[in-house]
Amino acid sequence: MRSKKVLSLLVAVCFGLVMAGAAVATDKGPETITMDSKVFPKHKKSLVTLSHQKHNVDYKIACDDCHHVYKDGKNVWKEGDEVQKCEACHTGAKAPKEPKLSKEEKIKGYMYSAIHENCSGCHKSLKKANKELVIPTKCGECHPKVVK
Ligand code: HEC
Ligand code: HEC
Ligand code: HEC
Ligand code: HEC
Repeated sequence: MRSKKVLSLLVAVCFGLVMAGAAVATDKGPETITMDSKVFPKHKKSLVTLSHQKHNVDYKIACDDCHHVYKDGKNVWKEGDEVQKCEACHTGAKAPKEPKLSKEEKIKGYMYSAIHENCSGCHKSLKKANKELVIPTKCGECHPKVVK
């Protein structure tokens, strides 16, 4: 009786471990993400929800189009690696007007520039290539209302 209990417990533990392993190996991230980065102490615009899974599966955008860890100028991040929040590296909120920074400096240092370069950058280039495409490129199409 006792050994049967121990055995089923062992089986349950092993199954749990296998499942945990599988979850790590196939972690494609959440289905949707409502971005609410803390680098912005107060959001002036409405929060934006990214259809995370759709972007990868339906729109066929590779993980490393959006996720990166640069080493010697090369993106060494690969699927399965830990994902940090964008603001972990793009630590400033919005670039100041002075001193004047280059586009690259703004993107590297500031979340506002990094996220819009990623999201709006891709959307605008796709819209430019295909005017018929329905894709949010204007401020109000991603941020529909102003938060007071
Ligand atoms: C269109 C851009 C885009 C694509 C494509 C994309 N991601 Fe993400 N992913 C994001 C953004 C943005 C976040 C949120 C980052 C933040 O909160 O700062 C995120 C978050 C995550 C997280 C963390 C979730 C959490 O709860 O903290 C994981 C894991 C992840 N992505 C994995 C993947 C994997 C694996 C793929 C490919 C199968 C992928 N992503 C494709 C943009 C993308
Ligand atoms: C581990 C640190 C790190 C994380 C996390 C990170 N970035 Fe970056 N990112 C960088 C660095 C460093 C550069 C500058 C690379 C260069 O100048 O060669 C960069 C460049 C960029 C660029 C311009 C070049 C390119 O690759 O397109 C964009 C856009 C960008 N990041 C957006 C994002 C977004 C969006 C997220 C979250 C999904 C994110 N970054 C997460 C460090 C990071
Ligand atoms: C590399 C290209 C690319 C990047 C990067 C990208 N998108 Fe998209 N996005 C697309 C495509 C393609 C569509 C679908 C257009 C269509 O309807 O065929 C789309 C559609 C959307 C839509 C409307 C439909 C839906 O699925 O909700 C929203 C909202 C959106 N994206 C938000 C974002 C946000 C927020 C980010 C940045 C975190 C982002 N996208 C980054 C390519 C991109
Ligand atoms: C493709 C979608 C998209 C478009 C288009 C877009 N944004 Fe954003 N915006 C985002 C995302 C995603 C964030 C990141 C929010 C976060 O991480 O908390 C953001 C952040 C912001 C923030 C900082 C957070 C806040 O609410 O104060 C401001 C301000 C902002 N956007 C203004 C604009 C303006 C102005 C335009 C037009 C020039 C614009 N956005 C166009 C997706 C978009």
